[in-house]
Amino acid sequence: VSRGLASSAVAGGPIKHITIIGGGLMGSGIAQVAAQTGHSVTLVDLNDVVLKKADGSIQKNLQRVAKKMFKDDKSATEQFIGKAMQNVKFTTDPLEPVKHTDLVVEAIVENLNLKHKLFTSLDKVAPEHTIFASNTSSLSIGDIASVTKRKDKFAGLHFFNPVPVMKLLEVIRTKETSDETYNKLMNWGAAVGKTAITCKDTPGFVVNRLLVPLMAEALRMMERGDASAKDIDIAMKLGAGHPMGPIELADYVGHDTTKSIIDGWHEKFPDNPLFAPVKSLAKLVEEGKLGVKTGEGFYKYK
Ligand code: 3HC
Repeated sequence: VSRGLASSAVAGGPIKHITIIGGGLMGSGIAQVAAQTGHSVTLVDLNDVVLKKADGSIQKNLQRVAKKMFKDDKSATEQFIGKAMQNVKFTTDPLEPVKHTDLVVEAIVENLNLKHKLFTSLDKVAPEHTIFASNTSSLSIGDIASVTKRKDKFAGLHFFNPVPVMKLLEVIRTKETSDETYNKLMNWGAAVGKTAITCKDTPGFVVNRLLVPLMAEALRMMERGDASAKDIDIAMKLGAGHPMGPIELADYVGHDTTKSIIDGWHEKFPDNPLFAPVKSLAKLVEEGKLGVKTGEGFYKYK
């Protein structure tokens, strides 16, 4: 009886403890914004080296945020960073934190089988009220949720890179996501400082459905020799007001990510020409030139 009371008491309250699975670029960014807005966060990755790197990048990016907020006020900066870092725990065990968590945000590799394995195991140990969310860029939320017994408490929470800077959060509802879950996630989005929009569970939701075909089309233009990569980027920055040109952006997002998104959609919708494979992208991935993160993509980075 007491267990039932406890979980229903928590169920009515806001989201306080978050477990983030996957300590890469997105997972560490989500951990950072949650921690700096006063949430208690556990960041999980199976690899200790990844966790150490995440710890370092969260501290570095908190500095950048603090610089904007407090300028040269050293004590306010230190207090802000110290408080945020106190809110984050790092662990290689996904099961323990999930036993006491309000929200799980999964940000692991884009592999449906791995996501299924993960959510199946988490579903067994998570309290009844716990909401599960995936930060997938391209997979269907309904497909990911299908292995769990909490489809009403399952949704997509899609953040954008760099997470501390980009103000948007896409909240994706499947046909089975309950109003309560949806409302809690919209409120949590505001609580972590983002503007949340509502999306259906369609390929790429809103942003990637528009942005990925734009990047692909820019690369096809370059492949045809209609314009150089540099000129295409200048064109979209100065002619359309984008902060980055589409080819620069592809380097920034990472070619492995973009290629896996396009390949996944092409497999599902082979007749849609917007989702056709892009040759120059495949070549770079084969060569391990994944963009900014490997020091080279369409451009070279120091
Ligand atoms: N953490 C904290 N702050 C950061 C940061 C980070 N990781 N990265 C940049 N910043 C801050 C900087 O400190 C700087 O602050 P300041 O204005 O006070 O000096 C500010 O952001 C601007 O950064 P920079 O001066 O280094 O560089 P830019 O002015 O060129 O801005 C950018 C960088 C914000 C990345 C900008 O170029 C941009 O908005 N690019 C487009 C990004 C985009 O489209 N992202 C979405 C990709 S799609 C996606 O993520 C979906 C996925 O599913 C594929």
